[in-house]
Amino acid sequence: MGVEVSVENLTKSFGSQNIWRDVSLTLPQGEVSVLLGPSGTGKSVFLKSLIGLLHPEQGSVIIDGTDITKCSSRELYEIRKLFGVLFQDGALFGSMSLFDNIAFPLREHTKKKEDEIRQIVMDKIELVGLTGAENKLPGEISGGMRKRAGLARALVLDPQIILCDEPDSGLDPVRTAYLSQLLIDINAQIDATILIVTHNIQVARTVPDNIGMLFRKELVMFGPREVLLTSDEPVVDQFLNGRRIGPIGMSEEKDDAQQRREQEMVDAGHSDGGTAEDVRGIVPQLQATPGLPERKAVGRRQARVREILHTLPEPAQRAIEESFLEEERAQENGREAARKTQKVGAGSGTASTSSSYDDSSYQGSDAQTEQFPAYRAGDKAL
Ligand SMILES: Nc1ncnc2c1ncn2[C@@H]1O[C@H](COP(=O)(O)OP(=O)(O)O)[C@@H](O)[C@H]1O
Ligand SMILES: [Mg+2]
Repeated sequence: MGVEVSVENLTKSFGSQNIWRDVSLTLPQGEVSVLLGPSGTGKSVFLKSLIGLLHPEQGSVIIDGTDITKCSSRELYEIRKLFGVLFQDGALFGSMSLFDNIAFPLREHTKKKEDEIRQIVMDKIELVGLTGAENKLPGEISGGMRKRAGLARALVLDPQIILCDEPDSGLDPVRTAYLSQLLIDINAQIDATILIVTHNIQVARTVPDNIGMLFRKELVMFGPREVLLTSDEPVVDQFLNGRRIGPIGMSEEKDDAQQRREQEMVDAGHSDGGTAEDVRGIVPQLQATPGLPERKAVGRRQARVREILHTLPEPAQRAIEESFLEEERAQENGREAARKTQKVGAGSGTASTSSSYDDSSYQGSDAQTEQFPAYRAGDKAL
């Protein structure tokens, strides 16, 4: 089961350059959270600080009762075993096959025998849809496949905390949708605490329980996804809608005079590059694939959010009440779908509950190996 990560007043600088300050947030146990923010605001630096690869000069990161900013290197080594990390560039070893890359944490951190390692690695390779590519070198496969190999490697130690740095960058919308479903399915299977850094608005709207945003060296907000998605903060509005007009500039920040000049241009009829339609508002959160266990985080989150509901802005409160109803409906629909597909499965003699993934047609073709297979109920738990 996932563990809570509690960050308090964290501040990080490189020399005289302050990256962000006083960042406080809690990643609730087993919930999925997204961190948004313009490029260069220090999202990757934040992820690296959570695993003790970088050392913030102030504040604390409490994981399983240990403050990793102050603990010994021995304790840090132990805490790191709780993590699975997908770095922004995949961070695979270029001279090792995908198999050896994915096996690396098992060989490094466990005393498992090679045949057991092989079993685990091949399970993860299948999970991320890379069957058949295990002997390839990272340089021989596409960027999307490298991301999935990185994700498989992040999963081999059965992590309780999963950090993903822009897992969707370089992926087309369809592969991004497969990836989103895969992350939700993994969460349903192992109840790990997940933090995803992304620029993808569709991922931010459909995947997480919680969303936060870094801007101007601060955490603008962090909380239940409905808070950010109903927020009328200019920076949130600009980011979600991909507008040029707003506080975020090409080099991150703009001054007030610049913002006024741009607003005058828009008022005079010049397009600001954003969508005409406002994309804020709530869309239903992704559910685990029918036939998988339901996400345990859903019930815990409902109880947690009910406690803080009265402290949230009015539009967020209304959206959360609606989300709770929607979650109940969606879970019931999921159970119904699982019942139906199980009947179909029994009739045709296959255990698969997924219509989107078929083993026999899947292997071989490059186009098909770019897909993420939906997780199947017949598969082993992670
Ligand atoms: N190891 C480092 N040494 C010095 N500066 C760094 C280091 N890592 C990141 N930075 C700086 O920190 C800032 C934030 O970087 P990063 O976390 O990669 O942004 P993001 O992931 O939000 O795009 C950038 O200005 C970057 O140059
Ligand atoms: Mg980054």
